[in-house]
Amino acid sequence: MAFTCRGLAALALLISSAIAQNSTNSTKSAIDANYDVLTYVNQLIGSSNGGNVFPGATLPFGMAKAVADTNSGSNQGGFTTDGSQITGFSGMHDSGTGGSPSLGNFALFPFSGCAGDDVNGCHYPKKERATSYVNGSVIATPGYFAVQLASGIQADMTVTQHTSLFRFKFPASQTSGNASSPLILIDLTDLSDSRQDNGTISVDADSGRITGNARFQPSFGSGTYISYFCADFSGAPLRDNGIFVDSRASTEVKDLLISRSINGYPLPGGAFNRFEKADNGILARVGVSLISSEQACSSAEKEISDFDFDKVHRAAKSLWREKISPIKVSTNGTTTDMLTNFYSGIYRTMVNPQDYTGENPLWESDEPYFDSFYCIWDLFRSQMPFMTIMDPGTVTLMIRSLIDTYRHEGWLPDCRMSLSKGFTQGGSNADNVLADAYLKGISENVNWDDGYDAVVKDAEVEPYDWCCEGRGGLDSWKALGYIPVQDFDYKGHGTMTRSISRTLEYAYNDFVITQIGSGLGGRVGDVEKYTARSGSWKNLFKADQTSSINASSAVFEGFFQPRYLNRTWGLQDPLVCSNIDNHSNSVCSLQSNAAETFESSIWEYSFFVPHDQATLITMFGGPAAFVERLDYLHENQITYIGNEPAFLTVFQYHYAGRPALSAKRSHYYIPAYFKPTNGGLPGNDDSGAMGSFVALSMIGLFPNPGQNVYLIIPPYFEKVEITSPLTGKTAKIKNVNFDPTYKNIYIQSARLNGKPYTKNWIDHSFFTEGKELVLILGSVESSWGTEVADLPPSLGEYEGFGNFTGASNSTLKMGKRAMRFSAANILHEMDKTGDGYWAN
Ligand SMILES: *[C@@H]1O[C@H](CO)[C@@H](O)[C@H](O)[C@H]1NC(C)=O
Ligand SMILES: *[C@@H]1O[C@H](CO)[C@@H](O)[C@H](O)[C@H]1NC(C)=O
Ligand SMILES: *[C@@H]1O[C@H](CO)[C@@H](O)[C@H](O)[C@H]1NC(C)=O
Ligand SMILES: *[C@@H]1O[C@H](CO)[C@@H](O)[C@H](O)[C@H]1NC(C)=O
Ligand SMILES: *[C@@H]1O[C@H](CO)[C@@H](O)[C@H](O)[C@H]1NC(C)=O
Ligand SMILES: *[C@@H]1O[C@H](CO)[C@@H](O)[C@H](O)[C@H]1NC(C)=O
Ligand SMILES: *[C@@H]1O[C@H](CO)[C@@H](O)[C@H](O)[C@H]1NC(C)=O
Ligand SMILES: *[C@@H]1O[C@H](CO)[C@@H](O)[C@H](O)[C@H]1NC(C)=O
Ligand SMILES: *[C@@H]1O[C@H](CO)[C@@H](O)[C@H](O)[C@H]1NC(C)=O
Ligand SMILES: *[C@@H]1O[C@H](CO)[C@@H](O)[C@H](O)[C@H]1NC(C)=O
Ligand SMILES: *[C@@H]1O[C@H](CO)[C@@H](O)[C@H](O)[C@H]1NC(C)=O
Repeated sequence: MAFTCRGLAALALLISSAIAQNSTNSTKSAIDANYDVLTYVNQLIGSSNGGNVFPGATLPFGMAKAVADTNSGSNQGGFTTDGSQITGFSGMHDSGTGGSPSLGNFALFPFSGCAGDDVNGCHYPKKERATSYVNGSVIATPGYFAVQLASGIQADMTVTQHTSLFRFKFPASQTSGNASSPLILIDLTDLSDSRQDNGTISVDADSGRITGNARFQPSFGSGTYISYFCADFSGAPLRDNGIFVDSRASTEVKDLLISRSINGYPLPGGAFNRFEKADNGILARVGVSLISSEQACSSAEKEISDFDFDKVHRAAKSLWREKISPIKVSTNGTTTDMLTNFYSGIYRTMVNPQDYTGENPLWESDEPYFDSFYCIWDLFRSQMPFMTIMDPGTVTLMIRSLIDTYRHEGWLPDCRMSLSKGFTQGGSNADNVLADAYLKGISENVNWDDGYDAVVKDAEVEPYDWCCEGRGGLDSWKALGYIPVQDFDYKGHGTMTRSISRTLEYAYNDFVITQIGSGLGGRVGDVEKYTARSGSWKNLFKADQTSSINASSAVFEGFFQPRYLNRTWGLQDPLVCSNIDNHSNSVCSLQSNAAETFESSIWEYSFFVPHDQATLITMFGGPAAFVERLDYLHENQITYIGNEPAFLTVFQYHYAGRPALSAKRSHYYIPAYFKPTNGGLPGNDDSGAMGSFVALSMIGLFPNPGQNVYLIIPPYFEKVEITSPLTGKTAKIKNVNFDPTYKNIYIQSARLNGKPYTKNWIDHSFFTEGKELVLILGSVESSWGTEVADLPPSLGEYEGFGNFTGASNSTLKMGKRAMRFSAANILHEMDKTGDGYWAN
């Protein structure tokens, strides 16, 4: 079960040091910089099999997101490649999300003509007009999307920041005249049919301009939002226009106010333009706004004044090229699939969150406003850290926006979409995002004092309704040092589940407060207090709790368990809510009867102590036992890489002094679980979470978010160069003995700026100062990065390390016995500290 190839380690060491003598020296960039990064972006990755990506046209972080929407059950991102039919073409979307389908407001739909040349001869309701598309007709490239409907109509589209430009080409009229008077409708609908009362739409009889707005529900949050649009048409003479309600239309009526209705809701309704013969196609320019139709019109007029499709497309494309270009890799020996996996992953990290600056009706502010942090529980782990490398400028704006959201809404969001508060999944994980950015020097015009106040408020003040902000159970958290099962909480209200995963996340959130607090200075008391509170995870560790999959297989001892207010233990099978949970009645999400762990098992959460791996390793019985447990987690599919809590577990071998196993584990998942195909993602992308996991794994530097730490494995390319957009300096990683078949994935030795480097991690100055890391690879594990001095920072002391001998040793068994002993000690010590310890 455990990986055992270390008998050869000593031999490998000899070989590698010989090689190292030769080739560790810094090289001038040998990267073939002539390739176009955009050739490796495949936007359709994740367009089926539940990836839920938005595969359409958008700018980086753009608000306008144009694509064809399908009637798939998995159309959260709009378009899917699963055989579903197209219901419309809309200009706002989210990407990769779970929850209900998001946005998709105000779909256009084109007809070549209406039956009988009567406007009532067209099929207006979404359900009736749904049309198949021609497989193979889909083109999805940065800033562009095209598809051909079975009706023969060709649609393609491009975008600016707030405006989509759709182009419809109609088949040459074969027979009768009725097919040559195209009609384009715009519908007051969204993807999840969430429209509320009082949708309104008007069409101008002369110009054909259509404006409107309606109130909708966010797809994973509370409240409602109003969205506005402004559509102008060009390319063919207008014949007539009007409005439709349900399946009937009129050219006499130009304005409509429509209710939600109680049946078959929301009632179909919208407006249309009919055109004279449109041989050259018709362009529809649709501006969107969350302020007003007037603002939607003025954005559209400003951004696309002349309906020049190619110009808009070219601009979008070059913006994408500029955004993605800071990362260049050596393509030598590497397959197109690998490159496509890589660059497509990078691309998807810049689709969501969205820049809605100037479009926020909720408060007056000169600060930027970003939306679609969907959700921070997913994004904090790798997407935000990745963007901090690639696009620190935009991350700076996002951080300012988060802090401004705190100023005006009272709290940082854990999830936010469509101007609404999204549902909190565990802790107040925006704290992690702020700390990560703070540690990595994000500072331009950021008010870090306010940022600090925001994270402290999360830790100290319980919101009345913690469905959607802050943390619940803070009295218990402070008094008991854990979130109890069936907590007594009268100050704030929320779903009383997830007590284990909330405890673990709160502990980490408290830790990251210290990361900002110690940097800001003058907050020594806070740092002590939150450091102590960040140790609260130990309070749920039950040293004698066992777990095994089959009676015959290995038994592990020492797991987190639920605990009641009176400090007695509850019980949750450590495998419940795991990927191999065979309990038919497990409930694992935000339901009121759900488990004490959110979307994953105690097994997986047992590793979630990102700030104190040293103590955790001791509690698990030492490094060898820790490694055995990590292996077991992965090899028995207890974890599922399609959900974000799995990400860090791939690399946590580093903390046990086994960086080679992180490399091995990373290659186990990529490309097996991440393929450059439509169905190639393991579950929802969750904005660009999956994409960022791939990108960071493949550059060989995976963050422990909320800390200034990247865990080093060899990049998947011979060379990687990343130019910091902030400093202009280029960080370089070079694999010596690079082997594109990935047999040589074990670091034998390393040099940083020409000097031997044995730490198995590196900090963010690598990127900002443009350092150079040369990795000498071999096909067997080595002793590189295995000493205590080489390990990443941890709150506790590393114990039981030393005498690197390999895994096929008796330390495994010893480890397990030691685990029980040391865990008992830790619990004993905790009891001694008494109640008062946590109550400050
Ligand atoms: C080191 O370089 C020399 C001369 O370039 C070469 O002959 C030798 O094979 C190299 N050694 C290794 C281990 O690559
Ligand atoms: C390689 O690097 C070492 C140490 O930095 C230096 O002494 C040596 O001259 C370099 N060799 C070459 C060929 O650049
Ligand atoms: C198009 O492809 C989808 C998904 O592969 C498939 O379900 C559907 O049947 C195909 N449609 C046609 C017309 O071939
Ligand atoms: C054209 O109109 C005739 C009836 O007038 C109808 O049967 C036919 O389906 C229409 N064709 C199209 C493409 O709408
Ligand atoms: C719809 O408009 C009416 C009349 O202005 C108003 O009374 C009602 O509250 C509105 N409904 C919503 C959901 O805004
Ligand atoms: C490409 O890789 C091969 C070995 O995989 C190596 O011999 C060759 O020098 C590399 N070429 C460049 C341009 O780096
Ligand atoms: C479920 O898992 C348990 C061990 O956790 C095992 O004993 C049992 O046989 C499994 N049941 C089924 C139906 O697979
Ligand atoms: C558990 O039992 C199942 C069925 O007997 C087997 O397929 C699986 O490999 C076993 N797992 C372990 C970890 O022993
Ligand atoms: C502690 O509380 C739990 C849940 O209410 C209860 O089942 C248990 O009996 C209590 N234990 C003690 C020692 O009071
Ligand atoms: C490592 O080995 C040496 C010599 O065999 C021994 O003295 C030392 O105690 C060992 N250290 C550990 C941590 O096992
Ligand atoms: C186990 O470790 C010892 C040193 O502690 C070493 O001498 C021995 O070779 C190792 N055994 C195996 C099978 O690797």
